[in-house]
Amino acid sequence: MTIPAEPAPVGKSSNAPTEETVLSVRHFTERLFAFRTTRPASFRFRSGEFVMIGLMVDGKPLLRAYSVASPSWDDTLEFYSIKVPDGPLTSRLEKIQPGETLLLGRKPTGTLILDALTQAKRLIMFATGTGIAPFASLIRDPEAYQRFDEVILVHTCRFKAELAYGLELVASLQADPLVGEAASEKLKHIASCTREDFAVTQRITAMIDEAGRFEALTGAALSPETDRVMICGSLEMNADLRLRLEALGFQEGSVANPGQVVVEKAFVG
Ligand code: A2P
Repeated sequence: MTIPAEPAPVGKSSNAPTEETVLSVRHFTERLFAFRTTRPASFRFRSGEFVMIGLMVDGKPLLRAYSVASPSWDDTLEFYSIKVPDGPLTSRLEKIQPGETLLLGRKPTGTLILDALTQAKRLIMFATGTGIAPFASLIRDPEAYQRFDEVILVHTCRFKAELAYGLELVASLQADPLVGEAASEKLKHIASCTREDFAVTQRITAMIDEAGRFEALTGAALSPETDRVMICGSLEMNADLRLRLEALGFQEGSVANPGQVVVEKAFVG
């Protein structure tokens, strides 16, 4: 009798993380890197969700929440991370090499889910820093393009070099066999910096506050009539943006009660 191959559990509990193999690592800046790992057949998630990942440290699992940056159809998993000096996990994770083991939680979850939003014309994704990770997943998911006429990714970082991951990803979509055509027709990427001159040099909040600016950048003013919004950045950015959207009349949604805006924190550990 053949016993089906199961991912190796760490510890005894069936909820314990599985052990995945790191396939590749890419460093973008001193502060940012991305890596790919194997994906167990049993690991199911919706594009935009996060999961606990980590390493064994002193014989114990050290885990933090990370958005899965790859789409749900991909047979490997991608993560995009900041390096926090002295961060308990990221200071170790930044040294990870292909062939090494990454712990992967079994319960992906999150709020940045297409099903949490009602139908509208445009999907607008606001990200700062590594908050682009869940949107890296969603812009590679055909469902985003099936549901919306326009998909707009607004990504703001302090410095130009920190935009590279998003700029390269969006450029690579042109040749993507699954979403290439839809993305070239429907995806718009607005990349901005705040501490260095760039094509757009502005915080996301300022793009919304400055009269006529959002319309100039995207073709129409931000409105709950036409737009559904996803937000992923630092706690302060999320709070500041949420206030502006509430003032415009956007209502928060969930899978149980779909709405017009969903918010998730970009996790740092
Ligand atoms: P700024 O350079 O003006 O602080 P961080 O790395 O601190 O999370 O910042 C990532 C990006 O998010 C930066 O461009 C930063 O702009 C911007 N940012 C930080 N806080 C806010 C906020 N409360 N509202 C809008 N943008 C913010």
